Amino acid sequence: MAIFGTEFMPEMALTSYDKDGWTKPQHVSANSISMHPGAHVLHYSSTCFEGLKAFSHADGSINIFRMDQNLNRFEQSSRLLSLPDIDKQQVSDMIIEIVHKYKADVPKPPGSMYIRPTHIGTEPSIGKAAAASLTSLLYVLLSPVGDYFAGGAKPLRILLDEKGVRCAPHMGMIKSGGNYASALGPILAAKESVQADQILFCPNGDVQETGAANFILIDGNEIITKALDSSFLHGVTRDSILTIARDMGMTVSERDLSVSELLERAKKPNIEAALSGTAAVLTPVGTFIHNNEEHKVGTGEAGPTTLKLRQTLNDIQWGRQKDTHNWLVKV
Ligand SMILES: Cc1ncc(COP(=O)(O)O)c(C=O)c1O
Repeated sequence: MAIFGTEFMPEMALTSYDKDGWTKPQHVSANSISMHPGAHVLHYSSTCFEGLKAFSHADGSINIFRMDQNLNRFEQSSRLLSLPDIDKQQVSDMIIEIVHKYKADVPKPPGSMYIRPTHIGTEPSIGKAAAASLTSLLYVLLSPVGDYFAGGAKPLRILLDEKGVRCAPHMGMIKSGGNYASALGPILAAKESVQADQILFCPNGDVQETGAANFILIDGNEIITKALDSSFLHGVTRDSILTIARDMGMTVSERDLSVSELLERAKKPNIEAALSGTAAVLTPVGTFIHNNEEHKVGTGEAGPTTLKLRQTLNDIQWGRQKDTHNWLVKV
């Protein structure tokens, strides 16, 4: 299997918006799009996207996980970027139809089909730094992906950064390319200087999220993660893991967590920390790096609760456990 996100299905679903509204979606080549070099997105970053997955079940059916949640977030991102409002029913139909077309290419477990809806401002106007793009393009790309954990889920090394921010605080809950651009420099520097896999952004000691995943701490029967606010991305996996944890009888504490509390709790032998996201699922964190010191998280190895939560989520996604919350949509 190719490197995550580098292989694409030959066609994508595409629609565009102008004064007459959204066009009828079409299936077109996924190799290229055409737009004016002065397009709004290329200058003023009017872009947002989503990431969700379709799973192949043993009965031959293909099932998309929590598409309604991703569509809500896509709608919110588009609005907050002043892009044209999306038509959620239309985008849902586009996703289902293009996945249906490539049903036979959805990898079997532990693989899946990663779905990438993307919405960009296309108005050719380099004078609109402070005005919205009145036209846009929305397309749905498909990328078959393999096992993110091939070779074992090695616990991650995470740099705790109390000075930087991932993005501007009012942009955190928008899934927009600009936020990733803003975090890239610091992440590359952390990889180079302390061999960190990721940065956990903790501005003024407030534990938020990493560059591409949410953060959760597991202390015995309690799961602790930051409560939702506008400063970070409201992950669908985060919500799913918290729901599964509640179903298992765990205590879920959505509240602020400081770096000092995090480091204090990390000393306990049974503590676990993990990153949650569509790509990462639930990836264990083994080490925190803080002010040039390394702090092992518990034993430094993947903990039993992390593995149990991840297994339960995977079992629901792959149809091996009852989907009691109706998270799956058959295509
Ligand atoms: C910055 C950031 N936070 C959190 C997440 C997790 O979101 P989700 O669980 O919806 O994939 C992602 C994407 O995976 C992300 O890019």
